[in-house]
Amino acid sequence: MLWFGASLLLLSASPSWASVVVTADVSNNARRPAFPVPDLTQIRDILAHLEAPIISGLTERMGLATSHDLYANNGRRLIDVLTTRENIALKAGRFDYGKMEYPFTLPLISPDFTTPLTPFNPGTFHQDTFSGNPNITKFYLETLVPMFTSATSFYYHLDNSTLNDDAALNLDATLLGLLSHRSHIGKVVAETKYAANVTVFVPLIKSKDAGTIRTLLTNTAQEANVLAQAATAATAFSTAWITSGASFPPATGVNLQNAAAKLFRELIDITTQIEIEYIMQRLR
Ligand SMILES: *[C@@H]1O[C@H](CO)[C@@H](O)[C@H](O)[C@H]1NC(C)=O
Ligand SMILES: *[C@@H]1O[C@H](CO)[C@@H](O)[C@H](O)[C@H]1NC(C)=O
Ligand SMILES: *[C@@H]1O[C@H](CO)[C@@H](O)[C@H](O)[C@H]1NC(C)=O
Repeated sequence: MLWFGASLLLLSASPSWASVVVTADVSNNARRPAFPVPDLTQIRDILAHLEAPIISGLTERMGLATSHDLYANNGRRLIDVLTTRENIALKAGRFDYGKMEYPFTLPLISPDFTTPLTPFNPGTFHQDTFSGNPNITKFYLETLVPMFTSATSFYYHLDNSTLNDDAALNLDATLLGLLSHRSHIGKVVAETKYAANVTVFVPLIKSKDAGTIRTLLTNTAQEANVLAQAATAATAFSTAWITSGASFPPATGVNLQNAAAKLFRELIDITTQIEIEYIMQRLR
C-alpha cells in the first residue's frame, strides 16, 4: 500500500485528539465494491435503532465512580486503550471500506477518486477524507466526562476497591466507537440527499458554497425528533435502573437526561458537519 502524507497521532505539543489523518491511495479505487445507499427512511430507522445502545452505554458509564485524573494529558490513557482496541479491530476488518467505522488512533481509509472506470453514480457511496472523531473526542473529554459525577459505583469488585478505571476506560472506548459509527452514517445520509438533488448540489460543490449546502442538508423537524427520542430513551433507562434497585443517588436520573440531551445535540451537529464535508468532496 502506498500512503501519501500519512501523519500519525501527534504525541507532542498539541492534544492527541486534535490530529486529523489524511491519506490517499489511488490504487485502492478500482478494487473497491460499488455500494448503493439505502433511502432516507431506512437510514433514519437505522439511526433510531442506534439510540438505545448509546443511551445504555452512557447509563452504564454514568453509574461508575471515576477519578477525573484518569483523563489527564488530554485523555492520554483513554487514547492508549483505544489504540490497543483499534489495532485488534483493524486486523478483524472493522475499518474496511463501507463499514462506516472510522478509527480514532489509526490512519484513515484512503478516499475514492471518480474516474471513467469508477464513476460513482449518484446513490453510490463515495469515501471522503473527513473524520468527525477529533470533534467527538474533544466533546467527550471536555463536555461529557465532567458530567460523570457519580460518587458510588454499581461495579462489584472482590478487592472492595471503589474506583473502576478499567471498566470506565473500556466503556469510554465502547461509547466513542458507537458515537463515531452513528455520526459517520452521515456520509450515507449525505449521499441519499445528493442523489435526490444532483442538479442543485453540483453547482454548489463547484462554487464551494458550504453555507447553502448546510441549509439544504439541515432538517430541524428531524433534529427535534432525534432529540425527543433520545430524551425518552434516557428517561426510560434511568427509570429502569432505579426501579431495579440500582443504588444511584437521586440526581442520577436527571444527570443522565442532561448528558443524553447534550450528547445528541452534539451528534446532530457533528453528523451535519460530516454530511457537508462529504458533499463538498463528492465530485473529486
Ligand atoms: C471486602 O469487604 C467485605 C465486607 O466488608 C469483607 O468481608 C472482605 O473481607 C473484604 N475483602 C477484602 C479483600 O478486603
Ligand atoms: C432539492 O433542492 C431544492 C432547493 O434548491 C429543494 O426545494 C428540494 O426540496 C430539494 N429536493 C429534494 C428531493 O431534496
Ligand atoms: C469540529 O472541530 C473543528 C476544529 O476544531 C471546528 O472548527 C468545528 O466547528 C467542529 N465541529 C463541530 C460540529 O463541533
